[in-house]
Amino acid sequence: MADSPQHVAIIMDGNGRWARSRGLPRAAGHRSSMKVVRKIVEECVQRKLGYLTLFAFSSENWRRPPDEVGMLMNLFLDALDREVADLHRNQVRLSFIGDRDLLGAELARRMHNAEQLTAGNSGLRLFVAMAYGGRWDLTQACRSLAADVASGTLAAADIDETRVAERLALAGVPDPDLLIRTGGERRISNFLLWNLAYTELYFTDALWPEFSAAHLDEAFESFARRERRFGKISEQLAAKADA
Ligand code: IPE
Ligand code: IPE
Ligand code: MG
Repeated sequence: MADSPQHVAIIMDGNGRWARSRGLPRAAGHRSSMKVVRKIVEECVQRKLGYLTLFAFSSENWRRPPDEVGMLMNLFLDALDREVADLHRNQVRLSFIGDRDLLGAELARRMHNAEQLTAGNSGLRLFVAMAYGGRWDLTQACRSLAADVASGTLAAADIDETRVAERLALAGVPDPDLLIRTGGERRISNFLLWNLAYTELYFTDALWPEFSAAHLDEAFESFARRERRFGKISEQLAAKADA
């Protein structure tokens, strides 16, 4: 049996379908999703989770119609304004991962301010992935390593898994134990490609705007039933548990 997860990552999918099924525009689904983010973050604070990483906007989401992209960017701006004070009160330390150069200056400024404000907090570490893609992350890590090799501060032969991990957006953060994807799709959609190598995957048909504490419980219960072998065999794990 797995212990309770220390780091949970969530692909918050299904906003558009939730809205359409109610005869509403997709934007209504995105607006509704914010309440759920708030609720689930509170749940994770109460459960004393160490790390929560939320996929809010992918590298590929720039391909959506410009109206929808603009609507989402405004929603993120509003959400930052509204939520940061409460997060701070709850001791949440907020960070963003992704290609900030692609975001508007005002959004980037507010993200930076929120990070500064909450940097000293000791509670939940909340990462929000914005303009994030696993391939982008690996690519920028390669570029950073290559620059050090070119300048002579790093030998190519010294590049190992630890060195790569140090250059990723989630450097120093334990890999997610559990990935939850709502909305019924069973794919990773270019989320944390490196970090998810041994993560337990949990897919639910619940659409993100209807995702609740009870759904989170189900995911945690499913996780608790998994046997995480990391390449070993069951007998080795049992021996360790007995020791
Ligand atoms: C997830 O919901 C939100 C983002 C990707 C920004 P979707 O907008 O993908 O909703 P569906 O998948 O179309 O229902
Ligand atoms: C994944 O959802 C990205 C986020 C939830 C932010 P998508 O709805 O964009 O994924 P695909 O395109 O259906 O794989
Ligand atoms: Mg989707």
